[in-house]
Amino acid sequence: DLGCFTYDPGFIATSSCKSKITYIDGENGILLYRGYPIEQLAEHCEFTEVAYLLMNGELPNQTELRDFNEEISDRAIIHESLRKFFDGFHYDAHPMSMLVGVVGSLSAFYHSELNIKDSTHRKVCAARLIGKMPTIAAASYRHSVGRPFVYPRIDLSYCENFLNMMFSRSSQNYIDQDHYIDPYLVKALNLLFILHADHEQNASTSTVRLAGSTGANPYACIAAGIAALWGPAHGGANEAVLTMLAQIGSADNVPKFIAKAKDHDDPFRLMGFGHRVYKNFDPRATIIRKTCHDVLARTQKSDPLFDLALALEEQALNDDYFIEKKLYPNVDFYSGIIYKALNIPVDMFTVMFAIARTAGWVAHWLEMMEEPAPPIGRPRQLYIGPARRDFLPKGQRS
Ligand code: SDX
Repeated sequence: DLGCFTYDPGFIATSSCKSKITYIDGENGILLYRGYPIEQLAEHCEFTEVAYLLMNGELPNQTELRDFNEEISDRAIIHESLRKFFDGFHYDAHPMSMLVGVVGSLSAFYHSELNIKDSTHRKVCAARLIGKMPTIAAASYRHSVGRPFVYPRIDLSYCENFLNMMFSRSSQNYIDQDHYIDPYLVKALNLLFILHADHEQNASTSTVRLAGSTGANPYACIAAGIAALWGPAHGGANEAVLTMLAQIGSADNVPKFIAKAKDHDDPFRLMGFGHRVYKNFDPRATIIRKTCHDVLARTQKSDPLFDLALALEEQALNDDYFIEKKLYPNVDFYSGIIYKALNIPVDMFTVMFAIARTAGWVAHWLEMMEEPAPPIGRPRQLYIGPARRDFLPKGQRS
């Protein structure tokens, strides 16, 4: 038993990972973080409060939350040499490629974390990653648009800080006091971060646990998780939703593309629909759907892409095939639309997912490293290659 998977050589892996962090009931659309329903956390919490819950197992009291927010804020700044790291990237590098590289390089700045000493030390690393992720993400964006780097501010909340680092018109050396950040959009971003914070043993979290099980340093483990998240079948789906909507082009074309999605000979899939675990509805999508419609109404976004998205949602939700296959919009369908309405560039969508999921990744890394002897992840396989055979010299090969 590897602590995550029990492999019987004759059968495909059946997951039996033990964790106290997140519970999912795919049939009934239930998602609990440390026992709390996602609906209640989404309605009442700030993102850092949920990050604290995932890491520590309990919601923080007022003092604990104040201290945690101060620590996260203190750790948001990045080393000046790391800021110069971005100068090495071509201007049109994908932000996810910069995120993977820069987060992985944190281990070059924090040598002491290469041999973690104890739980307190581990929690410092976890807070450092949660604090720095928005700064590195925003710096990736600023580099890609050729704008000066904006430093994190200690007077702003986690989400306000990120939006300010992304969109402030300030120059690199002083703070732009008059940059207005719409509280409603901050609230929408806070909700998105909470909904994306953790999701049990998804592909990227399993990657973090697998890398961590070898004793690799936390920055390398989180960089591995970022890389796994990037794929369009996983965290890259929100970006793929917008690409798909652009491919569909107009609401008139929706029936044609729904037919393509049903055709097994056609590789086209409806991005943002379906889920490995939820065979009913994704509770996060139910929560986020209302916010999506509210944001579109509030920002009066007249982008035809939004009308197309709502038409696709409507037709897919009422299509017999999708109903029979239990294919519902997942969290990524709506998050991509909200990010676009928040003027987040499409190639930053998966970066947004990574910022939020860092809370879950570090919580799982902490949980695993707390085990007395974390079992190294060494999955076995079902061998389907050729039977034993003897070597043939080149001249005898056909
Ligand atoms: C995330 O693991 C996590 O928790 C991930 C995540 C998280 O928070 O970490 O929730 C985030 O990754 C959400 C998923 C984002 N991905 C996408 O939106 C990409 C589009 N979705 C598909 O790639 C797909 O739905 C998967 C990969 C998500 C799930 O694929 P499965 O496990 O094959 O889905 P299934 O077994 O329920 O499929 C049932 C049928 C199959 O057809 P049959 O073989 O039965 O004839 O539905 C088909 C599938 O081919 N199908 C789709 C489809 N998804 C499944 N057909 C058209 N469009 C789709 N999107």
